[in-house]
Amino acid sequence: MDSYKRLLLANKAWVQERLTLAPNFFEELAKEQKPEFLWIGCSDSRVPAEEITGTQPGEIFTHRNIANLVNHTDFNLLSVLSFAVEYLKVKHVIVCGHYGCGGIKAALSSHRYGVLDEWLRQIKDVYQANSDTLSALSSIDAQADKLVEMNVLQQVKNLLKTNIIQKAWHDDRRPILHGWAYSIDDGLLKSLYKIEPGAPIDEIYRFDF
Ligand code: CO
Repeated sequence: MDSYKRLLLANKAWVQERLTLAPNFFEELAKEQKPEFLWIGCSDSRVPAEEITGTQPGEIFTHRNIANLVNHTDFNLLSVLSFAVEYLKVKHVIVCGHYGCGGIKAALSSHRYGVLDEWLRQIKDVYQANSDTLSALSSIDAQADKLVEMNVLQQVKNLLKTNIIQKAWHDDRRPILHGWAYSIDDGLLKSLYKIEPGAPIDEIYRFDF
């Protein structure tokens, strides 16, 4: 059997399973979505947001890209963020990086990956800003792990610099921003950073409301 056919078959089985558990499952889900969470994660196939968090369809609004970056000129990310925060009114925005991230490893190396190098450039900037701390670590794996965490913090800070988050904080005292890291080795999520509405924002990035 072609491998893709397995997916279509599995889908049929999943529908049956859902309907057995709750006959009106799709009927209810079709009415609306009211997710409490926006997930900004890595595209890595080993980090499926719903599965590792035990959440169901309708619970997490999701954006994924290589190395979970929050880029201010990325209209894809900004559109997702705007819709999630301004319309769906999510209570939490979670940036989730993961140890063993290929994007982080690529950014640490000098290998050329084409257009990906431009995408990953801001991770090199995070390295450069923290080069004293990172170069003191004994191995490249330790550096990569630390850079995963530093990158998550940088992306949470990038969220903080957006009009979208600052306006929602001002108007609605939400969302809470989270920085998490997932371990592919043991499947565990770690909460690294939590920034509540009203937390200080560096003056140059702060907008008037
Ligand atoms: Co990754």
